[in-house]
Amino acid sequence: MKGRKDLLDIESLSVEEIRFLLETAKPFKELIRQSVKKMPPLRGRQVLTLFYEPSTRTRSSFEIAAKRLSAEVTNFTVSTSSVVKGESIIDTIDTLQAMQVDYIIVRHAAAGVPNLIARHTRASVINAGDGHHAHPTQGLLDAFTMQEVVGSLGGRRVAIIGDIQHSRVARSTSMILRKLGAEVGVFGPGPLIPEERHGDMRSFRSFEEVLAWAPEFIYLLRIQMERQKEQFFPSLHEYHRFYGVTDERLEMIRDRGIYVMHPGPVNRGVELVDGVMTYERTLINQQVENGIAARMAVLYWLQPETGLRSE
Ligand code: CP
Repeated sequence: MKGRKDLLDIESLSVEEIRFLLETAKPFKELIRQSVKKMPPLRGRQVLTLFYEPSTRTRSSFEIAAKRLSAEVTNFTVSTSSVVKGESIIDTIDTLQAMQVDYIIVRHAAAGVPNLIARHTRASVINAGDGHHAHPTQGLLDAFTMQEVVGSLGGRRVAIIGDIQHSRVARSTSMILRKLGAEVGVFGPGPLIPEERHGDMRSFRSFEEVLAWAPEFIYLLRIQMERQKEQFFPSLHEYHRFYGVTDERLEMIRDRGIYVMHPGPVNRGVELVDGVMTYERTLINQQVENGIAARMAVLYWLQPETGLRSE
């Protein structure tokens, strides 16, 4: 299937493109589990990671994914760059463009920055998370992980729990799941699940109501203190009591065979108790591993306008 120049959100992907990316990720997952983990399609290509916000999983898995495809990778460290001298995003991008970079992977606190960059460069731009807006490769790796354990997502039930308001993960993951035919419900503190964010998705009033709905997956979101300008719940202790996976709820989840997911990093004792991390149907590490395969599929599919790819 013909690739696009950029990957900025899930909204703009067709169902066919999503299915193509998820299928493409499968052989890449097999590849990264082999002793020789490299293949040549991006040989000679230059990938640059440009993270204005911290990241462990996304940045390192993009770097690994690019190297598995034989690309050269440069990690642009914002804190030691001319950005701290006041260089604008557009001037930074012009500079990188002059260095003939082919792919720019960007994370920024402001929604829309990856779109702005994409309009100013011939390089392929991948959104690695922008503000509250989107985190499309997280959506892809989540859908890929769910498909691995249950097959088709048509008619599957997924409950997303937590800070829907500030979560780009909730937006991208709920969007891809619904495009693939899953039913998505949301639960969290009232002010963190505003109507405009959950739209026509089902919402719940208690964790017990979520479990009674019989979801196949519970997807816990990280509480993002860094994005909350006001207090939306009394304390982290109260949050855990009402919205977290407690020991008691973990037993109910285990009895029902529900899979548990989280994009990371987890706040232990807030979104979940330690026991969730060793529960046999917790998919958190599988999500991380699949992040490499999903990002390889994206890099393989995109078509930068910087030159012809050597196949
Ligand atoms: N899930 C995710 O985006 O994690 P990082 O912030 O560690 O990249």
